[in-house]
Amino acid sequence: MKRNILITGGAGFIGSHLVRLMVNRYPEYNIVNLDLLTYAGNLANLKDVEHKPNYTFVKADIADLDAMRRIMKECEIDGVIHLAAESHVDRSIRDPFTFARTNVMGTLSLLQAAREYWESLPEKYEGKRFYHVSTDEVYGALELSHPEGIESASTTKASAHGHTAYGKEFFTENTKYDPHSPYSASKASSDHFVRAYHDTYGMPVVVTNCSNNYGPYQFPEKLIPLFINNIRHRRELPVYGKGENVRDWLYVEDHARAIDLIFHKGREGETYNIGGFNEWKNIDLIKVIISTVDRLLGNPEGYSLPLIKFVTDRPGHDSRYAIDSRKLHEELGWEPSLQFEEGIEKTVRWYLDNQQWIDNITSGAYEKYYEEMYAGR
Ligand code: NAD
Ligand code: TYD
Repeated sequence: MKRNILITGGAGFIGSHLVRLMVNRYPEYNIVNLDLLTYAGNLANLKDVEHKPNYTFVKADIADLDAMRRIMKECEIDGVIHLAAESHVDRSIRDPFTFARTNVMGTLSLLQAAREYWESLPEKYEGKRFYHVSTDEVYGALELSHPEGIESASTTKASAHGHTAYGKEFFTENTKYDPHSPYSASKASSDHFVRAYHDTYGMPVVVTNCSNNYGPYQFPEKLIPLFINNIRHRRELPVYGKGENVRDWLYVEDHARAIDLIFHKGREGETYNIGGFNEWKNIDLIKVIISTVDRLLGNPEGYSLPLIKFVTDRPGHDSRYAIDSRKLHEELGWEPSLQFEEGIEKTVRWYLDNQQWIDNITSGAYEKYYEEMYAGR
């Protein structure tokens, strides 16, 4: 069936993996990638699909309501997958207003434009879908306890291989929202607007909340690419606090596969949590990154460990995130395809093989931002 799908934020990290998947998998769809190309957006992420006949790029700001109205109508959009956002917690602490503008007002503008266009059609909302991509960070922080004696709630491959859970509680789709950072507060607000458009206007929405992603094309301000790049350049590795915080990591292509599945098969009005039951204490993860980079660069074991520098903690630093994704597994059969060890190996190799990609985006303005950001720690 022919469809016109608008993907916002398609030049960013997760968006570029999703655009690639959709363009290659659905030649009968028109995929419109809408992105403002902020510091985080990079069309080089999509070099391999940019000439495909079913792919179009539009540069626009999601907070520009008139532009959103025009694009919905001109492209006759019947499905929206919304990823465009400001996405980095540390930036949100420095500049919360930009996060409110893009994540809250941007999402609201997109919802309103979709609503006006779809309500103007004879069939109205039939065959339409507004898919909002959100984060587990809206749920706040879970208690962190010693792993001994704790059983994982997992039914997926990851924990079948015996991975540790750092607490008894997990975020489920019913966990009460409790955001702490300006980033998570802005995402929580956008999630509420999406559900309000469902409940008030009958818009066919679906929302997903995913755990931390990793993989190729992630902007090197986030932990994993930042540390790989710093090791390569023999720069210090700034570990916040004691490195005891826990994050739940998912390979980005597994997230993109989940979005594809839920966009097509997820139930209207529902929320699905996405995660691979793959919790890591930051310091343990950092040691895995160090040993993988050192091995691939031919350095002796432990060579880059002295680059670790414990620095002032992030204010409001959430202690633990852990997603319970059993609903998605049980309803739609999704599970992660990669073991973490394989995913990290692939990821480190990619960044080491694509140094030019990193150098292009870390030169100039970003270098200045990074220096300022870490000078105070
Ligand atoms: P990213 O920062 O890599 O990319 C964001 C993209 O949005 C960029 O291409 C940027 O140019 C674009 N953008 C920003 N402001 C815009 C605006 N006003 N108008 C149009 N485009 C704009 O982010 P990401 O890590 O790929 O995250 C994508 C989405 O997934 C976000 O909504 C994020 O909250 C969510 N998410 C991310 C993670 C993660 O670990 N990265 C986990 C769960 C959910
Ligand atoms: P990040 O990649 O920023 O994702 P998020 O804050 O959205 O989870 O950070 C992942 C974890 O790594 C988080 O606990 C903060 C920590 N961290 C550091 O210790 N040092 C760093 O330089 C960065 C960027 C993050």
